[in-house]
Amino acid sequence: EKGGYDHFMLKEIYEQPDAIKDTFRGRMLVEQGIIRMAGVDDHFEKFLQAPRIIIVACGTSWHAGLVAEYIFEEFTRIPVEVEYASEFRYRNPIIHKGDVVIAISQSGETADTMAAIKLAKGQGAFVFGVCNVVGSSISRETHAGAYTHAGPEIGVASTKAFTTQITVLTLMALKISKAKGILSKTALHRYLQEMELIPAKVEEALKSNEHIKAVAEEYKNASNFLYLGRGYNFPVALEGALKLKEISYIHAEGYPAAEMKHGPIALIDEQMPVAVIATRKGHYEKVVSNIQEIKSRKGKIIGIVTQGDTEVRGLADYVIEVPETLEALTPLLTTIPLQLLSYHIAVMLGKNVDQPRNLAKSVTVE
Ligand code: F6R
Repeated sequence: EKGGYDHFMLKEIYEQPDAIKDTFRGRMLVEQGIIRMAGVDDHFEKFLQAPRIIIVACGTSWHAGLVAEYIFEEFTRIPVEVEYASEFRYRNPIIHKGDVVIAISQSGETADTMAAIKLAKGQGAFVFGVCNVVGSSISRETHAGAYTHAGPEIGVASTKAFTTQITVLTLMALKISKAKGILSKTALHRYLQEMELIPAKVEEALKSNEHIKAVAEEYKNASNFLYLGRGYNFPVALEGALKLKEISYIHAEGYPAAEMKHGPIALIDEQMPVAVIATRKGHYEKVVSNIQEIKSRKGKIIGIVTQGDTEVRGLADYVIEVPETLEALTPLLTTIPLQLLSYHIAVMLGKNVDQPRNLAKSVTVE
């Protein structure tokens, strides 16, 4: 059942090239520059007219929502708010007529997300679901939706659900962008071509597994970890920290790299490993200077970099390479080494990776 892997989590990490392919299969007509998603097509005017998009989710799905915020605002110019479902449901949120609510949930059973959906529906919003489990409660409660088609995710720590959620949300944003005349046909074509290459690039990123094991070995006894990223990769930093916390029980925090100087930098000393996402596109030079700030305080730097990078390599204690891609698609690659890093640390510490203490795969109570 684990297909030769020691844990479901590792199997699911390695399934990502196929899972992402399954997510976009039949939805992208690359040569024609067309994206087909029935749930979006059936309600396309609502998306095109939306004055605002509100994303509700919990945990890892909320992180996918944050990545989507960057992508939707960049490509569709629709203002996006990303809310923890548990907060949204209890704070008398402002929902305007015409607002589109997107609920993201792997299991489709999360109680807080479900309550947020019911609230939004009650106030007249159109609610779109991005779920993995077919026929789940949330997929039935929403007006329309798009499945991630990641296949069953058994490991409690979400991996392939996250990257496929980002894939679905990216396709939606590209499709709306094109229809709004923001993205040209040529530009859309370029994105689709690149999306088609992502599974192979994820495969390539997975080849760093042995090297990542060595990094895990080096830092497995740390009591704290920091994860930093900017732009599209800020939510990836949050997700990297969550993965480490939930399966290894090491305290970790994710931060926007530039926010460090407003507080967390005080934590940095020679005991503190800091994973910094520093891919070549997107605020690269800024992140490099953030790395220098950590280094001058003797923090240990694990750089997640673009293949062939030399600048960060010169500063970092370890670098882990991912292939180059378009900036908006980098989260699909930078997530991979962070999943593997937390996996190996947890295994080395003898933790129950697939069923971490205190956690359940579906959180059906609030
Ligand atoms: C993290 C994790 C949880 C879930 C969260 C939402 O690895 O598994 O944080 O992401 O409970 O679950 P879904 O997506 O099923 O609504």
